[in-house]
Amino acid sequence: MNMAMEKINLESIKKRAENEIRKSKNLNELNDVYKLYLGKKGELSLVLRSLKKMLKVRKVRIGKKANKLKDLLEEKIAKKTIKIKEKARIDGRKGDLFDITIPGKKPVVGHLHPLTQTKGRVEEIFQSMGFSVVEGPEAETEWYNFDALNIPKNHPTRDLWDTFYLKDGNLLRTHTSPVQIRYMEKNQPPLRIIIPGRVFRHEATDAGHEINFYHIEGLMVDKKISVGSFKAIIKEFFKRFFEKDIKIRLRPCYFPFTEPSFEIDCSCPICSGKGCSVCGVNGWVELMGAGMVHPNVFKNSGLNPKNWQGFAFGIGMDRLAMMKYKINDVRLFYGGDLRFLNQF
Ligand code: PHE
Repeated sequence: MNMAMEKINLESIKKRAENEIRKSKNLNELNDVYKLYLGKKGELSLVLRSLKKMLKVRKVRIGKKANKLKDLLEEKIAKKTIKIKEKARIDGRKGDLFDITIPGKKPVVGHLHPLTQTKGRVEEIFQSMGFSVVEGPEAETEWYNFDALNIPKNHPTRDLWDTFYLKDGNLLRTHTSPVQIRYMEKNQPPLRIIIPGRVFRHEATDAGHEINFYHIEGLMVDKKISVGSFKAIIKEFFKRFFEKDIKIRLRPCYFPFTEPSFEIDCSCPICSGKGCSVCGVNGWVELMGAGMVHPNVFKNSGLNPKNWQGFAFGIGMDRLAMMKYKINDVRLFYGGDLRFLNQF
């Protein structure tokens, strides 16, 4: 086809070429656009090549415009090439690009279970009063769980604790008191220990009872330990744990391994003793059992009861946590429900 004779529409070439340059998304597409207009057989190249066959006046007029358009398109393609390369570089590095102005992603951090938090706080308070933290086995022998604690076989007091017996003749400890014996067998007084731990009872569950829960046993033995020593220590503990002045009262009670024995109530930390749904109308909550270590317990641990005196106590840790956090159902601690747990 003879270009020289054809009507040359540079304006149309310019429009189409510019549009296609703008639309090209990668170097291949851009290269195609280049070929289409500026390549060997490109539309604009053909125009330029046809110039020599043109009459002089037309040659000058069209030649000027066509060369200007060539420069313009080359420049646009060069600029677009840089743009595409830059974008590819950023896309390729997106993984390790670090933009310090973007707000950081917060890692999902868990937290301690409310019972673990309670245990930690109780340990902290007793440690500050000179007590060491001691542990013992959850699967126990009958000797340590019962006999050594002055609870003979076939004696009705064994029924105070509904027990899970294991096939090997051992049992799941019903309280943390067996660790008193284990510790005194190996350590000479004076001693001050607390024993936090899991205990098991074969009971129907309800808002106040679970088949496993936590106790914190306490034991202090020295030459002259009295009920007065116990009251002082435990009052201080409650005051620090509940972070307010708590009234306590000792009620006479029976445990085979302490004599005298008592149950300790505290004035309800929720209603301050006025009476509420948790403490009932009387304003007192039962939190623990305690007493002066029975001579037989000393004997069974290899200590001479004539030389030593001591007190022991067992706090229901779940109860303690329920009072502190105002929880009305012990089963919530063991349900694994995040709606509950995330509140602590
Ligand atoms: N072990 C007792 C219980 O299971 C509590 C207790 C501990 C009582 C120490 C007196 C002394 O209830």
